Amino acid sequence: MKKNYSIAIDGPSASGKSTVAKIIANKLNFIYVDTGAMYRAYTYAVLKANLDPKDEKASESLIGKIEISFDENNHITLNGVDVSKEVRSNEVADNVSYIASYKNIRLFLVESQRKIAQNKNVVMDGRDIGTYVLDHADLKIYQVATAEERANRRYKENLEKGLETSYEDCLHNVNKRDYIDSHRSFCPLHPADDSIEINTTDMTIEEVTNKILQIAKERGIY
Ligand code: CDP
Repeated sequence: MKKNYSIAIDGPSASGKSTVAKIIANKLNFIYVDTGAMYRAYTYAVLKANLDPKDEKASESLIGKIEISFDENNHITLNGVDVSKEVRSNEVADNVSYIASYKNIRLFLVESQRKIAQNKNVVMDGRDIGTYVLDHADLKIYQVATAEERANRRYKENLEKGLETSYEDCLHNVNKRDYIDSHRSFCPLHPADDSIEINTTDMTIEEVTNKILQIAKERGIY
């Protein structure tokens, strides 16, 4: 039977995971799964239902009642509707780490993530892909960069998308999410023992991508 390959890319907020993961998936013709978008879509659903994202029980009440998936363009959908723009709002960014700290919500989304990856070649990015979701991944990358550099990248990205934020807001959000993501009790953000760390602070996207592709080649992934 033909083996399916999986590449897990984890790391803190705005460390460049999704940009790099998309390019690699494209080059290798693998499916790209943005798990952060799924936590964002759940957060958006909670806000839309006028529930308090800081209230675990209230937030959990949507489990099994909403469907979070990706359409044929790989855009994130909530109950079949493309919400790729909505999930990038500041309100979602400010609340997503609370939602992502709730165990039952994580289990609900992890089930979908594993189903999407089943019998396919995938590049999946997030916080717990190498440590939990795909703990047997063929290659595990842990991408880091200084908080200042990450805030700077997010600030530029927001400007390009026409989103109103200041550099200070971005730095505050990056630091706040780092703290919540790495201190939650279930599946906190941390590198898998068998992951390869790449510090992207002074690297271009091309350099990071080439480095990962080179390691993937050495491992016989393509
Ligand atoms: O793009 P950015 O780095 O800002 O974040 P994201 O990948 O869109 O993820 C948004 C949030 O979802 C993160 O800050 C985490 O709180 C949460 N997340 C998670 O807990 N586990 C994942 N596998 C992916 C995201």
